[in-house]
Formats: sequence, C-alpha cells, structure tokens
Amino acid sequence: MRLHHTDPQTAIRELLPVLGQRNALLTAGTADRCNTMTIGWGQAGRLWGLQTCTVYVRPERYTYQFTEEQTYFTVSVLPEDMKKAMSLCGTKSGRDMDKIKECGLTVRTGAGGAPFFEEAELVLVCRTLYTQDLNPACVLPAGEDAILPHYGAKGGWHRAYTGEIVEAYSFT
Ligand SMILES: Cc1cc2nc3c(=O)[nH]c(=O)nc-3n(C[C@H](O)[C@H](O)[C@H](O)COP(=O)(O)O)c2cc1C
Repeated sequence: MRLHHTDPQTAIRELLPVLGQRNALLTAGTADRCNTMTIGWGQAGRLWGLQTCTVYVRPERYTYQFTEEQTYFTVSVLPEDMKKAMSLCGTKSGRDMDKIKECGLTVRTGAGGAPFFEEAELVLVCRTLYTQDLNPACVLPAGEDAILPHYGAKGGWHRAYTGEIVEAYSFT
C-alpha cells in the first residue's frame, strides 16, 4: 500500500484546509458493501480528551444508511487531479450507480474493517462515539442568516457524527 501511518494530529492539520476547497470523501460500510460521498463540512480537533473528527450527513443521502449501520467512518482526501471523481461523488447517489467503480477507486480497509481509498493522499479512520441531529430550535438570531438558507425545502437537517480518529494514513 502506498499510504503510510501518520498521527491523528498531523492528519487533522492536513484535513482542515481541504474542507471547502478540494473537499473530501466520507465513506462507510464494509469492504464488500460501502458507499462514499463528497463532504465539504467537517471539524477536527480535541474533544473529551481525544483526537476527533465530526462530519455532517443529511438523512436523504444514501451514505446516511451506512453511517447509521456502521461503527466506523473514514474521511479520504483525494489528489488535486481527481476533481472529476470528487464532483461525481458529490452529485450522484450510490442508490443509482456504483460511484466507487465509476471513479476507479480502490477500496482498502483500516481499523474495524472501515473502507477507504488507496488513491487518497490523506485518510482518517474514525470510530463513531457520538451522533446528534442539528436542531432548528438551537439556531440563535445571530446564526439565522448563515444557517437557515441551507435548509427549508432543500431537505432535512444534518446529523453530526463525531468519531475518535483511531488511525490516520498519508501519502507524502
Ligand atoms: C462540494 C460538496 C460538498 C458536500 N458536502 C456535503 C456534506 O458535508 N454533507 C452532506 O450531507 N452532503 C454534502 N454534499 C452532498 C453529497 O455529496 C451529495 O448529495 C451526494 O450525491 C450524496 O451521495 P449518496 O446519495 O451516494 O450518499 C456535498 C456535495 C458537494 C458537491
């Protein structure tokens, strides 16, 4: 495997600038049956004394079924030149096509059998510790302009998944 182990703190430092730019793939499931989607939202840092990563998944996503079923999820950052794959995984649903095959991605597994991609430059393997639905009742007046336009007719409120980063890989 071209990826090698790195420490969670280094992985956090490398992940944060990517979100909202190149973005990442959130993957959950097993080696035989998994799904992946592009994510632009996420946090990583220290919580409950642990190195953690939080991702946000709308209930409408096919990936949601997998994050609900599984104890682990992974976050993979692909190289810059794989923009097409990032775009496809963020616009098509795994309900309608095999995105992993279509993008030519190679599934590898980490802790807990969690699937990620050999082609990635950075991978965080996370064990889900905590989930919580974002809640309209918790939006404060100062947050309304930033938050409410993401919802309404467009779909359900995201579920946050916070996982301990139990393994990280990078290719440098
Ligand atoms: C740049 C970008 C960032 C995205 N970020 C998120 C995200 O953080 N959370 C989310 O639920 N959907 C996000 N999406 C939408 C999903 O990637 C998209 O709906 C995808 O097709 C879902 O695939 P699935 O049905 O196979 O799970 C993003 C899409 C793009 C293009």
